[in-house]
Amino acid sequence: MLKSLWSAAVCTLALGVSGLTLAADPVVIKFSHVVAEQTPKGQGALLFKKLVEERLPGKVKVEVYPNSSLFGDGKEMEALLSGDVQMIAPSLAKFEQYTPKLQLFDLPFLFNDISAVDRFQRSPDGQGLLKAMESKNITGLAYWHNGMKQLSANKALREPGDARGLKFRVQASAVLEEQFKAVRANPRKMSFAEVYQGLQTGVVNGAENPYSNIYSQKMHEVQKFITESDHGLLDYMLITNTKFWTGLPPDIKTELDKIIVEVTTQVNKDAEKLNQDAKQSIINAKTTEIITLTPEQRGKWREAMKPVWKKFEGDIGADLIKAAEAANQAQ
Ligand code: LMR
Repeated sequence: MLKSLWSAAVCTLALGVSGLTLAADPVVIKFSHVVAEQTPKGQGALLFKKLVEERLPGKVKVEVYPNSSLFGDGKEMEALLSGDVQMIAPSLAKFEQYTPKLQLFDLPFLFNDISAVDRFQRSPDGQGLLKAMESKNITGLAYWHNGMKQLSANKALREPGDARGLKFRVQASAVLEEQFKAVRANPRKMSFAEVYQGLQTGVVNGAENPYSNIYSQKMHEVQKFITESDHGLLDYMLITNTKFWTGLPPDIKTELDKIIVEVTTQVNKDAEKLNQDAKQSIINAKTTEIITLTPEQRGKWREAMKPVWKKFEGDIGADLIKAAEAANQAQ
């Protein structure tokens, strides 16, 4: 009797202690991504971790996993939905399974420059798209820039005809497949982590990415030419699992929301400089010739690729495309 009373008391004590421990456990946010740390997204993830740990010490812990070290881009969405990670920032090209609307951002030659992208992303239409996947348990928290994409290849690409027959790596996006088909090239979907090897071994001959990704993945070492085409956008949506996010204690969520606003401002301010620095590093490496297009040559790429818009107008919505185009006019 005495023995069982004693063990009951020990048990209660143990439960009490573990209950206390549980209550004091910090919320853990695993942030997984596929790029290097010296890129806009890589820097954004690290700044988020720094600010969270300064302002919510002991309450929230952020673990950042760069370079596909935890999940590659084929798996990171599933990991977010199953609760294996709590935050990711896939490029806007990687959402087509979850909403057709975000295919908007991949339409070639839609935005003239990153200021137009900013205007659209801040508009009610742009902000509305952050909520387009809530029924799938995905909440968009912010847009983060990387920047405009450049074409790379082992052949000089000056006119659309130069791309004919070449194999280009594309992200998992039907729009991007059509974009390369429009110039009679062969698109091949491939995860980001495989691109360097794909280019090195000749599985693909070319690719498209902003300078920061080209340089940090050493793609310039296996590409003789980069055409500064600015033909499309590579930006991100910072997303979380809706159930996880709405289940956070309100004081923590409010602070995290504030931090995200601050980090987003910083990422979007620094992204262009990171791309320009990466461009300079590529020039210094002397591995790759950077080709500047004349307005006439660029016009030919636009003309060849623009018919892609029509193919996706039904999925995306003609009004949304119009609204994005209108953002090219500075107010
Ligand atoms: C790519 O797959 O090329 C990019 O989406 C990688 C990234 O996250 O910037």
